[in-house]
Amino acid sequence: MKSNTEKFGKTPHQPSLWTRADALKVHADDPTTTQPLVSANFPVLSNEVFIWDTMPLRDMDGNITSVDGWSVIFTLTADRHPNDPQYIDENGNYDITRDWNDRHGRAKMYYWFSRTGKDWKLGGRVMAEGVSPTVREWAGTPILLNEQGEVDLYYTAVTPGATIVKVRGRVVTTEHGVSMVGFEKVKPLFEADGKMYQTEAQNPFWGFRDPWPFRDPNDGKLYMLFEGNVAGERGSHKVGKAEIGDVPPGHEDVGNSRFQTACVGIAVARDEDGDDWEMLPPLLTAVGVNDQTERPHFVFQDGKYYLFTISHTFTYADGVTGPDGVYGFVADSLFGPYVPLNGSGLVLGNPSSQPFQTYSHCVMPNGLVTSFIDSVPTGESGTQTRIGGTEAPTVEIKIKGQQTFVVAEYDYGYIPPMLDVTLK
Ligand code: FRU
Repeated sequence: MKSNTEKFGKTPHQPSLWTRADALKVHADDPTTTQPLVSANFPVLSNEVFIWDTMPLRDMDGNITSVDGWSVIFTLTADRHPNDPQYIDENGNYDITRDWNDRHGRAKMYYWFSRTGKDWKLGGRVMAEGVSPTVREWAGTPILLNEQGEVDLYYTAVTPGATIVKVRGRVVTTEHGVSMVGFEKVKPLFEADGKMYQTEAQNPFWGFRDPWPFRDPNDGKLYMLFEGNVAGERGSHKVGKAEIGDVPPGHEDVGNSRFQTACVGIAVARDEDGDDWEMLPPLLTAVGVNDQTERPHFVFQDGKYYLFTISHTFTYADGVTGPDGVYGFVADSLFGPYVPLNGSGLVLGNPSSQPFQTYSHCVMPNGLVTSFIDSVPTGESGTQTRIGGTEAPTVEIKIKGQQTFVVAEYDYGYIPPMLDVTLK
């Protein structure tokens, strides 16, 4: 197997590995790392649209920020089609499951506002139709830049391709609500390079998305996390000793796990405005373990770097498994080495009785974790489900050294501000 230095050249760091041995420690239904059951009687934010990935407005240091007392979130959003013949089944009923499953292809960025950090009111679309260069507007991060209300929205422009982009606009408040103005010129930042990060040509199932810019509390520089896969033709990756880790007898066989190649990418800005970026080797790789480490983000706490990322059961490799949910890793410095939290990496997973109840968790610096409701079983048999497309109850976790604990649950979509900015 090629070492990381051979593969990535002379680099400032070695990617940390999430190994198969680490993943063998993942256990669903441990109450300290399991999201409380979501009731099938959940309220829905909107009957007109589905929402999923939720992106709270924040500053470059990661603080969730309200403006003039208004909380703001951005969401991936798609129209619901209860009357569209395309989604009416042979019995004349609305096939909400199919409508929901198709949503990724028509995802658009919307924003919502609130005085209370919940009960969100729909503001509207962030960019007018035709502004974004591709069909899909996928996840990213809205950053409040200053007291003038300028906002940089970093997101992923998908289909064709997948490009990390940004668009600048401004948040404007009145006593009645919030509007987003501008957001008219989308600037492409970078795409997968095929040397560190896998391209579509190397693997049609590649992932390259979900930018999360931040200022490193230690060196003060501007960086960005994103989701990627390790470069190389699909099927060419080696799952060697390092990727396997220290496994017990009977766990040496890696099956077809060479097809799972997720990584958490990082880039550094060459300028102060974040218009010019250089990709660096991944911070963390999961070759032989999992194919997706989505929406990576940090919490900086107690002088440590807590790296969180969401992943799925279906993206795990042969011989390892875990629930849909958020996983985490901790290091003493930005470039690692990173150690899986709780030994395994699992921080907050769905209970096995409701494996798809929530997804796309975002751990905020105050320990609150927001996510959306995907589908919740209804009735005794558990064969029927209710589709969500709305905010899940917020969960609080306590982060202590290399461990985390679920400690509380709050209202649906509760995302309180950590600081308020009065606009000039
Ligand atoms: C997570 C995610 C993101 C992506 C978006 C697409 O739920 O898969 O990685 O940006 O959803 O809808």
